[in-house]
Amino acid sequence: MCGIIGILGNRPVSDLLLDAMKRLEYRGYDSAGIATLEDGHLARRRAEGKLKNLEAKLAASPLHGHIGVGQTRWATHGAPTEINAHPHSTHLVAVGHNGIIENFRELKDALLAEGRVFVSQTDTEVVPHLVTKEMEQGATPIEAVARTLKKLTGAFALAFVFEGESDLLIGARKGSPLAVGHGEGEMYLGSDAQALAPFTNRITYLEEGDWVVLRRAGATIYNENDKPVKRQMIISSASSLLVDKGNYRHFMAKEIHEQPDVTGHTLARYLDLATLTTKTPQLPFDWAKLDRLVITACGTAYYAGLVAKYWFERYARLTVDMDVASEFRYREAPMKAGELALFISQSGETADTLASLKYCKSQGLHIAAVVNVTTSSIAREADVVFPTLAGPEIGVASTKAFTCQLSALASLAVMAGRARGTLSADDEKAMVQALSEVPRLLSEALRLEPQIEKLARRISKSSDVLYLGRGTSFPLALEGALKLKEISYIHAEGYAAGELKHGPIALIDEKMPVIVIAPFDHIFEKTVSNMQEVAARGGRIILVTDAKGHEAAAMEGIETIIMPEMPAAIAPIVYSIPIQLLAYHAAVLIGTDVDQPRNLAKSVTVE
Ligand code: AGP
Repeated sequence: MCGIIGILGNRPVSDLLLDAMKRLEYRGYDSAGIATLEDGHLARRRAEGKLKNLEAKLAASPLHGHIGVGQTRWATHGAPTEINAHPHSTHLVAVGHNGIIENFRELKDALLAEGRVFVSQTDTEVVPHLVTKEMEQGATPIEAVARTLKKLTGAFALAFVFEGESDLLIGARKGSPLAVGHGEGEMYLGSDAQALAPFTNRITYLEEGDWVVLRRAGATIYNENDKPVKRQMIISSASSLLVDKGNYRHFMAKEIHEQPDVTGHTLARYLDLATLTTKTPQLPFDWAKLDRLVITACGTAYYAGLVAKYWFERYARLTVDMDVASEFRYREAPMKAGELALFISQSGETADTLASLKYCKSQGLHIAAVVNVTTSSIAREADVVFPTLAGPEIGVASTKAFTCQLSALASLAVMAGRARGTLSADDEKAMVQALSEVPRLLSEALRLEPQIEKLARRISKSSDVLYLGRGTSFPLALEGALKLKEISYIHAEGYAAGELKHGPIALIDEKMPVIVIAPFDHIFEKTVSNMQEVAARGGRIILVTDAKGHEAAAMEGIETIIMPEMPAAIAPIVYSIPIQLLAYHAAVLIGTDVDQPRNLAKSVTVE
């Protein structure tokens, strides 16, 4: 989960590397460093913590040179200290690495036995030592890298710069993404097209096992058998604009408030609001012929999938097999060729989700992806991409991507229902009409922010919080708990309300806030019973419901957030607002780093 950048330039590269790393900071931000070739000699600056610390160090002690590599780190092996920050180097080579070298221990032991000196606790440091050993035995830098790559197992994207080599940059990709940028007399390497956008939009994505030799004149790509191969150059749509926070204190706040707009853009992609029908793009599969739909994802994207499971089953009468990608990828679940597997991912780079996609592809399934970054690895591997039009999501806590995922998934469930004959034309009209109201309802829900901010004060003083929901509110309970814990560091759990008596009720006392997500519906009374059981044990309830629910609950001593009336089908999308705002304001009150919470990264590109 790191971001790497390499520049073979015809101008000073230190500031250019830093600028690219700002675009990569979402991939990891616990330390950073760059290495350049100054008058042919390797020079390095590294710093613990956020990129601004490296920036300050470089201001005090600049690096010169027209070639270099940089890396923003999310620590896998070794604490996030300066000594463990990348690039790692010897006197002959400096290396930036994203991924995990799984066999580093045996490699390191062998190198130590030969008397090589290690200074870090990282897995990465074996790479420069292996390359150096080959070069000391007479190999050229290119031969040394080719031989070293064959010794590594695990996932890695690597960028190499060499002592004395002023027209050479080498990159390699196995399990972690790496893109080549083609400039005017310059060449680049980057973890994604966004990082390269300020320099070029001419991009070549390396494929699994590829490695590349860059000269200023151009790139030569080799496959894992060291055979030269051609890879397609595309024109990337990634924007070079560095997204800013506008008038908001945090990216997360901005992105929460962008939701009415971006869900509107996303819905317009799938719905024809003039005829109140779903648009039916050309698809490589037939909804009507599917017996089963497999959905897998991670984190918030997984919870979006869980909501979609209810929708596909209810509206398209389609059986859905759901699992988190980290479990799915190793389950070797029986698959049938011709079935459909749907992968949900904001970044499109989540390692477990990508690995699950490749498993399903190997089993002959059709592959569909709901992604926000349409140039991502998952998007490129899919047979069909259903984009979310959320725009760049910078806050590590996913918000607008989540509601855009739900908007796209709801539209797909209606599309599938029509195709399978389980939804009539009138049903479709009603559903599309309901979905068309989502942007307005999100705006109305955002107007509850002052009340929610007050409630967040209570939550911010708690050490444990329980979220409860039934039906499509159950995945929202899980998502609400995830939002709270990942940005405020308060322990929180989401539970199906009906599970309360099977254990969690033992947790209830006057110190335990219980957030109940329950729009009024046919099972609302069941949730009222749960709330009474909680209240009877001193639990402090915050009920998120609508006017009917508030009236039906008729409970003293509870706090209620009264949401606008809306069709039950779209409640999961709109009820995301209070759970996002509750987490956000609790975190702000506590004073955590809301946009870049500790230990996290925006895209989990290692398993
Ligand atoms: C959500 O707030 C988290 N940042 C995390 O759970 C995230 O949803 C998960 O890592 C999946 O990321 P993706 O959507 O980019 O695949």
